[in-house]
Amino acid sequence: MVSKDVNLTAGALVAGGKGILAADETVPTITKRFAAHTIESTGDSRRAYREMFFTTPGMASFISGVILQDETIRQRSSIGTPLVDLLAQQGGIPGIKVDQGAKPLAGSPGELVTEGLDGLRDRLEEYRRLGARFAKWRAVISIGDGRPSETCVLANAHALGRYAALCQERGLVPIVEPEVLMHGAHDIERCREVTEQVLHVVFDELFEQRVSLEGMLLKPNMVVAGLDCPEQASVEAVAEATLRTLERHVPPAVPGVVFLSGGQDPVLAAKHLSAINELVMPKPWTLSFSYGRALQDEALGAWNGKREGVPAGQHAFYHRAQCDSAAALGRYSSAMESEAAA
Ligand code: 13P
Repeated sequence: MVSKDVNLTAGALVAGGKGILAADETVPTITKRFAAHTIESTGDSRRAYREMFFTTPGMASFISGVILQDETIRQRSSIGTPLVDLLAQQGGIPGIKVDQGAKPLAGSPGELVTEGLDGLRDRLEEYRRLGARFAKWRAVISIGDGRPSETCVLANAHALGRYAALCQERGLVPIVEPEVLMHGAHDIERCREVTEQVLHVVFDELFEQRVSLEGMLLKPNMVVAGLDCPEQASVEAVAEATLRTLERHVPPAVPGVVFLSGGQDPVLAAKHLSAINELVMPKPWTLSFSYGRALQDEALGAWNGKREGVPAGQHAFYHRAQCDSAAALGRYSSAMESEAAA
């Protein structure tokens, strides 16, 4: 039996036009992002960076929860308060990335399977004690010559199912994230085909492993053309292909779908989400965001690793969160970009 709390938390994470900040980059990933701005990556600089987001005044009007990773959930702020508590004081629900990364899938050259099931029950137990109320597991599927293989889709979906069932057993909401990557020259139609296949197999596995749909969130990619495709789809075409794909493969019992940004330009990620919400088609789930780069990139540049950069970083983050929250309600407009600059 899944606890009522899990269902309530799942609903709370997508209520009222709010979305989730994905701040769960691993140490190697955040180190790479810092390096692009020549910011040194140390325990202290990573703490200062995360603290900037969690203490942004008014953040809770747009952000319901934040996904942390193992280092951050154990860190204390500059004045000694656990970062999880700082977040909770702002009204944010703490979440935690629990997968241990995508590793080469044996027998399927060029494909990856996400690892981290061994010992997961105990880690979930500990994370819950540390304050986490939801979790994330990311599977990555790439499109290319002969990819994805059925083996890769099935192996990743199976792991997502096992992870989600364990989360619910331990009282955490699982965010189920099967990400079809944007790398490649494929067109939007190919992305649609693969996303449909992946979602179909994922929901089969969730059913097989008795995951309660009411107590989970789906975190999918939007249906877009590959980054190297010469013909990029319009905002309207992306919105329609994405919503049709969800309509075909995501049961209405799932309370919320929170998209990843996947490397989209932050403004485009807001436009797409708003266009999806503006479509006049059935939408039995709340459609919101769980962006990483689209919420953080501008703030990272504005902060630039400096204490005096914190107000500018917070301003940039607040603005993107406000735009994405408007998009989750289908009310984003380009005018919001210039209003913020003024
Ligand atoms: P992006 O929005 O940068 O894709 O990150 C979301 C995420 O959590 C990826 O796992």
